[in-house]
Amino acid sequence: MNALGLRHLLGMRDLTRQQIDLLLDNARAMAAVNERRIKKVPSLRGLTIINLFLENSTRTRTSFEIAAKRLSADAVNITAGGSSVAKGETLLDTARNLEAMAVDCLVVRDGHSGAPHVLAEALKIPVVNAGDGVNEHPTQALLDLYTIREKRGSLDGLKIAIVGDIRHSRVARSNMWALRHYAAEVRLSGPATLMPPDLDAFGASYYPDLDEAIAEVDVIMMLRIQQERIKGANLPPLREYSNEYGLTAARLRRSAREDVIVMHPGPINRGVEMSPDAADGPWSLILDQVTAGVAVRMAVLHLLLGGGSLE
Ligand code: NCD
Repeated sequence: MNALGLRHLLGMRDLTRQQIDLLLDNARAMAAVNERRIKKVPSLRGLTIINLFLENSTRTRTSFEIAAKRLSADAVNITAGGSSVAKGETLLDTARNLEAMAVDCLVVRDGHSGAPHVLAEALKIPVVNAGDGVNEHPTQALLDLYTIREKRGSLDGLKIAIVGDIRHSRVARSNMWALRHYAAEVRLSGPATLMPPDLDAFGASYYPDLDEAIAEVDVIMMLRIQQERIKGANLPPLREYSNEYGLTAARLRRSAREDVIVMHPGPINRGVEMSPDAADGPWSLILDQVTAGVAVRMAVLHLLLGGGSLE
């Protein structure tokens, strides 16, 4: 078994605080590699990693590919349109065929919650969840925690407001599972129809008023409305939504702490959940999150696959 004591990375729900801290510490070493002029280390030389992405992605897919390459692994990308899933093959059959090519790891994104868990049961190689339906997106939570920890020094006792479509957000879910280990105060804000039914399971509280939700918090995490996962009636009119729940620079100045951190996993719908002056203002760590994404995914692959030297 590797240093993490895990065969797969399926969700933050399964991780201990020690495992999360180990991943974040390792990501720090990877961030240092990413600052070198030659950003390539022999850690996973000779291994092949498949990125099987059956849902759209810019940041996650690209950063998994860059992460694998910086560790000297060979990365192969497969997307829905270009795969036999489009011809009616099941995900499991596709994955078994890929495994038969002697690959060493499967990174998978799929619209069905639980899909990577099914593959992990059936395959012998490690499976990494790159987002499954509304369930989890563990590497996003890790990069969010990493970004916050780098800025604040620690995650303990954090006050964080997560705003928007929490119900359909695997990003929110993964972050909330992880934050249980750090005695964080989690405030959820957004329309009641977009709150998760299992809010209490996370020890989170609901703030219908955004100004109250963001008062005194260390971090504000904004989310996109997952229109593709919402069935008709629950989709709020966007103009009304952005009046009530849109983050603007004026609102930040009025209601938030001066040193508040503003985050967003991307893709941003500018003018809906946040205005350009909020997304691009001095409080924004949105691009730092993207930078951290490469380091965190390097750490995940390196630790899961028992990687070697970083020199
Ligand atoms: C998120 C996702 O796909 O869950 N994006 C990402 O990975 N950075 C969030 C979203 O799509 O809104």
